Amino acid sequence: MSNLIIKNAHIVTPIGHTARCGSEMSQLFDLPRGTIEITDGRITYVGENLSEDKPGYQVLDAQGNVALPGFVDSHTHLVFGGYRPDEFIWRINGDSYMSIMERGGGIFNTVRATREASFDELKHKAEWYINVMSGMGVTTVEGKSGYGLDCDTELIQLEVMKAINQNPHRKVDIATTFLGAHALPHEYAGRSHDYIQFLIHQMLPLIKEKKLAENCDVFCEKGVFTVAESRELLAAAKAMGYGIKIHADEIVPFGGAELAGELGALSADHLLHASDAGIRAMQQAGVVATLLPLTAFTLREPYARGREMIDNGCAVALATDLNPGSCCSGSIPLLFALACIYMHLSVEEAITALTLNGAAALNRAHSIGSLEVGKWGDVVILDADTPNVLPYYTAMNAVKNTIKRGLVIS
Ligand code: NIG
Ligand code: FE
Repeated sequence: MSNLIIKNAHIVTPIGHTARCGSEMSQLFDLPRGTIEITDGRITYVGENLSEDKPGYQVLDAQGNVALPGFVDSHTHLVFGGYRPDEFIWRINGDSYMSIMERGGGIFNTVRATREASFDELKHKAEWYINVMSGMGVTTVEGKSGYGLDCDTELIQLEVMKAINQNPHRKVDIATTFLGAHALPHEYAGRSHDYIQFLIHQMLPLIKEKKLAENCDVFCEKGVFTVAESRELLAAAKAMGYGIKIHADEIVPFGGAELAGELGALSADHLLHASDAGIRAMQQAGVVATLLPLTAFTLREPYARGREMIDNGCAVALATDLNPGSCCSGSIPLLFALACIYMHLSVEEAITALTLNGAAALNRAHSIGSLEVGKWGDVVILDADTPNVLPYYTAMNAVKNTIKRGLVIS
């Protein structure tokens, strides 16, 4: 944390402490030449350039380049053992994601590798991804467990994230999510009810007591966990004070978006096959619709109906879904390009989706996601004077500097 003045910046930011919905997503504060002052890591001034430099502050002259809030990647699985490049090749040759999982590969493949990995291996690997993402402007990332599916390994995944968060020089903050319901482990074959009870009565209280996760998530999907099982788990998690999230309608229309609305989830994620009723339910309940176009791209599936969701008043967030299976990419540049070119979001909407609405999907919109006094000094400086380069530099990094709590990281 430090004291920093960023002057001569083209400041572009959504405004607010909650998710922006529908047409609000395109309304950004835009000041062509201004200053952002960060004191002890928090923003203390945003506005016209000041006439004098203040003592005790490092000064960064943005020279007219764009300053945005640090990007919030609100859906990743960044702690995992092993890799699955063979499955990727099978898929591009025609195999399907679910058929590989049904044959014991997919998530189960990574579960085996994660159970075998040491704490340090998992941590180093996660830190490698964090370094790369920080260079692309990410200042907060969500991280899920879900590759242990047993008590010890789920805890280790969450403890890796806790250790990274405790580093005073960390480049990103990790918002932690328990995804014990990512798949039914083989030890519980045919006993999904028992596994859900194990998660509710043993894992959730233990993780709460150890303060290891803020949110609870479930893979609600045909062949994985049913809507009824997901409801039971998430309702219990909510009652214990967890924020709740849901992998919804990724592979087939399944009622996940509707369930998110019914339970008042923070977000429903994926939504490639969300129904009209599901979109209405999310809009009415204020659930953030988190879209992951890198996954649709990688799985060669149609994109989620982001344009329609915004036109129907939803709050949309964008995230990478970085994971070793369906989407081994944390590319923010490609994410912007896909969102604007194929999902028809405007640049302004995509910025809101990857900043304030991502923060809202993590229940952190009060402290990050916009450049406003009182929030953390997490800022991205682009190597250009217009934010239009974000999709225009297609899949190339437009970020010049990433600033975390007032510290210039890169
Ligand atoms: O969000 N769909 C479920 N979970 C991840 C993929 C996990 C994996 O394949 O390892 C996802 O796409
Ligand atoms: Fe995911």
